[in-house]
Amino acid sequence: MSLKIERIQPKNRLLAWVEDRLPAVSFIAAHTSRYYAPKNFNVWYYFGVLALVVLVNQLVTGIFLAMHFKPSAAEAFASVEYIMRDVEWGWLIRYMHSTGASLFFVVIYFHMMRGLLYGSYKKPRELVWILGMLIYLLLMAEAFMGYVLPWGQMSFWGAKVIISLFGAIPWVGESLQHWVMGDYVPGDATLNRFFSLHVVALPIVLLFLVTIHVLALHEVGSNNPDGVEIHENTGPDGKPVDGIPFHPYYSVEDLFSTTIFLLLAAFLIFFAPTVGGLFLEHDNFTEANPLVTPEHIKPVWYFTPYYAMLRVVPDKILGVVVMGAAILALFGLPWIDRGRVKSVRYRGLGYKVALGVFVVSFVLLGAVGIGAIASLLPRMLGEGTDVNLIENWIGRVLLAGYFGFFAFTWVYTRFGFERTRPVPERVT
Ligand code: HEM
Repeated sequence: MSLKIERIQPKNRLLAWVEDRLPAVSFIAAHTSRYYAPKNFNVWYYFGVLALVVLVNQLVTGIFLAMHFKPSAAEAFASVEYIMRDVEWGWLIRYMHSTGASLFFVVIYFHMMRGLLYGSYKKPRELVWILGMLIYLLLMAEAFMGYVLPWGQMSFWGAKVIISLFGAIPWVGESLQHWVMGDYVPGDATLNRFFSLHVVALPIVLLFLVTIHVLALHEVGSNNPDGVEIHENTGPDGKPVDGIPFHPYYSVEDLFSTTIFLLLAAFLIFFAPTVGGLFLEHDNFTEANPLVTPEHIKPVWYFTPYYAMLRVVPDKILGVVVMGAAILALFGLPWIDRGRVKSVRYRGLGYKVALGVFVVSFVLLGAVGIGAIASLLPRMLGEGTDVNLIENWIGRVLLAGYFGFFAFTWVYTRFGFERTRPVPERVT
């Protein structure tokens, strides 16, 4: 399907005047009331729009935070306290932003999971997937830099650990590390550049990528839970018989899902904004102190699967390579998975099991990274257990599960082992 923008002539004279010079109304219509989406979307399809909602929340609350935040190592922590205590509604704006960051990842992980379930990364949507992966990478950079800004203990030590990963690179590592930090330890220069990147550079790139992510999707059309291409089956009017206009049908549905989501978000923001230290770690309510190392340095929950990879691989540089490979494998998925059937509904048992193993491994790696397994082990196996050793081996098995999914899927689909079920002609 190629997206041809049919011109609309608005009745309103001012709009018509603009339309003759810039076809804005036609453009909006082409992407809403004239964009035909499959009629069988389910709840997994809520998360794209929810990601847009959170993105807007982050931008708006971020603008207000930046009005009061001081990006200097001497003042940052106090300025956040000032926002929390003295700025009118400052606590709400800050919690909307910090809780929003975590919710962003909740939404994105569900959004990506939908892609895995229904094969939305496969032809012709490979570029949509690649752009999504770039967004995911950028989002991680954005979240990491944002977490450094309040200049709490975890901001400082987290930055130190993560930036020192550059130091693992042979020959140039140490210089690169100091170049990124602008100092020998995270300091004023680090905070200043992270502020500039977090509030200006990365959001601009993010907005650009999100725009072309959606445009690229609309060029080829949305996938759906059956993985049937609706544009291959059009009626006499040229419209897909299994499609309905995005607006009003899905715009109204998205209004409903957005309302439910905002209610849940409000509940968290008002009653448990730190979610027991999961969304905002307790250590970050203490000002950064280069002389006192926190007992456990760990990133926020959405990074912990990758953090676990770093920890369970014995060598620092190898750990970084494994972590990079974990992300690269996701980028390569459209080419690793050669199966012709998209939706998991009609795929072979092998794929279903491998996907299940992948998801469980990723989640449990997160549990390893956050330290949950380490705190459970002594209770299960008694005091005196070599927690580190067992945790490392659990982590390595999970790592095998993570990469096993890609290796298995490639062999399974490349050499014709997959036994799929017949895909229906029309959506069900
Ligand atoms: C700021 C982050 C993101 C935003 C705002 C966003 C937005 C959207 C929207 C509005 C849609 C269309 C509605 C829908 O199908 O749910 C969509 C579709 C899609 N997105 Fe994203 N997205 C983001 C990140 C990602 C990421 C990280 C990935 C994966 C790596 C991804 C992969 C996809 C795919 C494959 C589709 C097509 C799904 C289908 O048609 O079945 N997106 N995205």
